[in-house]
Amino acid sequence: MKVAVVGLGKLGAVMAAVLADRGHTVAGADANPQVVARINQGQAPVSEPGLADLVARNRGRLAATVDTEKAATGAEVIFIVTPTPLAPDGTFSMDFVLSAGRAIGRSLRRSQGFPVVVLTSTVMPGATGGQLLPLLESVSGKRCGLDFGLCYNPEFIALGSVIRDFLNPDLILIGESDPRSGQILEDLYHSLCANRPAVARMNFVNAELTKLCVNTFVTTKISYANMLAEVCERLPGADVGVVTQALGLDSRIGGKYLQGALGYGGPCFPRDNLAFAAMARGLGVDPALAEATDRINRRQAPRVCRLVLGLLPPGGAVGILGLAYKPDTNVIEESQGILLAQGLVDAGARVLAYDPAAMEPASKVLDGRIRLCSTLEECAASADVVVIATPWREFRALKPEHLKAGSGPPVVVDCWRILPRERFEGLVAYVTLGWGLGVAEAVSVSAATGT
Ligand SMILES: NC(=O)c1ccc[n+]([C@@H]2O[C@H](COP(=O)([O-])OP(=O)(O)OC[C@H]3O[C@@H](n4cnc5c(N)ncnc54)[C@H](O)[C@@H]3O)[C@@H](O)[C@H]2O)c1
Repeated sequence: MKVAVVGLGKLGAVMAAVLADRGHTVAGADANPQVVARINQGQAPVSEPGLADLVARNRGRLAATVDTEKAATGAEVIFIVTPTPLAPDGTFSMDFVLSAGRAIGRSLRRSQGFPVVVLTSTVMPGATGGQLLPLLESVSGKRCGLDFGLCYNPEFIALGSVIRDFLNPDLILIGESDPRSGQILEDLYHSLCANRPAVARMNFVNAELTKLCVNTFVTTKISYANMLAEVCERLPGADVGVVTQALGLDSRIGGKYLQGALGYGGPCFPRDNLAFAAMARGLGVDPALAEATDRINRRQAPRVCRLVLGLLPPGGAVGILGLAYKPDTNVIEESQGILLAQGLVDAGARVLAYDPAAMEPASKVLDGRIRLCSTLEECAASADVVVIATPWREFRALKPEHLKAGSGPPVVVDCWRILPRERFEGLVAYVTLGWGLGVAEAVSVSAATGT
């Protein structure tokens, strides 16, 4: 099949490469000439595990251009994966989508057959049918459902595992202008997916709403677990890890994303929650749950900041392990590790940090305010309190001998409970979030040793 992908960023580049890898001929388009050049040189334009290999080995079937109209001309399916940044009113901006839509509309004027335009970007409910569809019709002079098709088809991927998530989705969600368009897209997915995902086909607005609901429901779960962690910390003997593990065994609840730890971040969760709340408010519905989810999330980094400051000896240094918003990505947008670093520096603490992938973007944001280390060992050896802010797999290797030797035992704050507690027993003050006795014990250890 001839496929076009417009917007070759964190999501679109992977989609284009995977489509090419599955044998489709892919014309990519991006407004950024550097992105286009990288693709045409067989290089990944963004950092994502597995993408470099995929782009390199599919050079023959994947080409890119800055000319969206050209890329879309002759394509049977045209994906739009351009950014939809949050506008000041809390809703997603359609500016980039509509700019791509105008160029695609021009390509449709000369199109043969029944090309299907697929909007993948996250948009507000009503945007596909209310804005993109009329634009495509007016620019092309053709009729949606007769001369071309239109689908809204968001992806449920996480950065760091985009290829796996794209190939093994739980759900293919399709909002369709007409059954023929939806079927063409469904058939394309059957040619791609390594699993047999559920397919849900519906009208545009239900699909747009479902996309927002998935992310806002997951963030509600995260904030619930984090609120529970705060409760556990004040309840002697309580351990949020034990409670959430048991809760997750109830099939009505499920264990995924139910872990008292630091808050959520990244390019999707925080803003999808805000957009959902803005939509509800606009419709006259009090978005109390979405607002509470966001409020609980915003207090996590300050909460851990206070905890760390309480454990820090005078003049001591904090070592933050993890600045990316999650493991396996270099993205730091709304990252809890960054928020924590900024909060600690603002409070006057000396801060060091290490991340396996995000040092470069982090250095731009933190702007010389903290010392960036080249290894986990360097960071741990110079810090009086070490905080694991992102649960990178390699941080599991942290051992007591990596930690600073000083007058008192060093402190490890393991926000994600990735370390075996027993490894640190008697040697280090080991603290986790949501652990009733942990904080008090660690503080008393520090106090007893005069640190
Ligand atoms: N990244 C994620 O984890 C994720 C997950 C699900 C959904 N989404 C959604 O997918 C969409 C894209 O996200 P992303 O993270 O890939 O964005 P991104 O910023 O990484 O990439 C977007 C790309 O589009 C290009 N672009 C902008 N305007 C263009 C135009 N008019 N024509 C052609 N190219 C243009 C940019 O140069 C950039 O390379 C957003 O709506 C986002 O909400 C992202």
